[in-house]
Amino acid sequence: MSEKEVLEGLEDVIALESKISRIELVDGTAILEYRGYDIRDLAKKSTFEEVCYLLLYGDLPKKYELQDFKIELAERRELPPQIIGLLTHLPQYTHPMVVLRTSVSYLGSLDKKLHEKSREECLEKSKSLIAKFPTIIAYFHRIRMGKNLIPPTLELSHAANFLYMLHGEEPSSTAERALDMDLILHAEHELNASTFVARVAASTLADMYACVVAATGTLMGPLHGGAANEVMKMLREVATPRRAEEYVKKKLEMGERIMGFGHRVYRNVMDPRAELLRGLAKKLSEEKESIWFKVSEAIAEAVYKYKKLLPNIDFYSASVYAALGIPDDLFVNIFAMGRIPGWLAHIMEQYENNRLIRPRAKYIGEKNKEYIPLTRRE
Ligand code: ACO
Repeated sequence: MSEKEVLEGLEDVIALESKISRIELVDGTAILEYRGYDIRDLAKKSTFEEVCYLLLYGDLPKKYELQDFKIELAERRELPPQIIGLLTHLPQYTHPMVVLRTSVSYLGSLDKKLHEKSREECLEKSKSLIAKFPTIIAYFHRIRMGKNLIPPTLELSHAANFLYMLHGEEPSSTAERALDMDLILHAEHELNASTFVARVAASTLADMYACVVAATGTLMGPLHGGAANEVMKMLREVATPRRAEEYVKKKLEMGERIMGFGHRVYRNVMDPRAELLRGLAKKLSEEKESIWFKVSEAIAEAVYKYKKLLPNIDFYSASVYAALGIPDDLFVNIFAMGRIPGWLAHIMEQYENNRLIRPRAKYIGEKNKEYIPLTRRE
């Protein structure tokens, strides 16, 4: 193998071609499009169900197509009894993301067409997984809290039904719209770590559930989706805007990272999703008279002052979720609920034009060592 430069973290490596999302930096502004549609339009004008359809089918649905799709999702919300049994038997202290990936794996074992990869079958599995993610999360939360299960309802939207199953009461239209928009903003983001992992798994022709399990495990890391949870810990620790600067300065002096800041792609430009979520967080915290948005703004100001770093999507997610009454340890799960259509679209794209993803490593260990038999090793 010829000597090639190692691109640490695969930074800026173009690993494959895709028609799912476009991220481009133009004149200091970031463009993010799903299937050619600007994220700003989608966030403000569409619904999560519409965006799922767009990602899975390749274009926006017509009115009747969306109507049918919404019914198809709603009909797939309830969980098989085996999964409810699993949720009941898992220790209550299990992290909800571990619960989610274990449940996805179990759903795979229940699928008699596990290995089928026709487009029709992939769409069927996709609808089922998108529909069931919120139920798995809400059911486990209620089980661990010793509360009764609230079965999904056909009448509510994806976002509203989740909040209904979680809290036991229908959400306000503001709360429903806030979660809906948050899910849209999380739905897809090109070759982020969890999506890349899903595609690597798909490139071996592993089944869809296996790919989603791999992605779910990857999303949980604090440098990826786990960051929102860490942001909330920070907000609670800082507690008031006037303590933000001192906190940030101290952390940076100790060489620590401030969670919710920095991004591999949006280096010196604002993450458009963070910008939209910031507006949402502001509106929600004003309505709920919550302190978290003000604390967030003070932290963002200090991080920019001392490190010139901008917030990423996870930063404002924390105050949005807190305002919606979502427990801190469910934050990554909400991210997964949003990202699942993106993962599935990428898995299908990989299946449809597959080549095994298998890069190389540059070996830097010792070479040509003499083998010493066990009896002579000291
Ligand atoms: N806090 C403090 N310094 C940071 C941060 C941060 N959050 N992020 C980057 N930096 C600094 C690094 O220390 C480095 O500084 P140096 O050049 O002085 O050594 C410089 O910025 C470049 O950092 P890299 O590690 O090269 O950036 P990379 O692209 O590898 O990492 C990442 C991107 C992982 C997102 C990083 O910014 C980070 O750790 N952020 C905090 C975790 C986080 O918020 N993750 C969510 C990302 S968004 C998402 O997954 C949806």
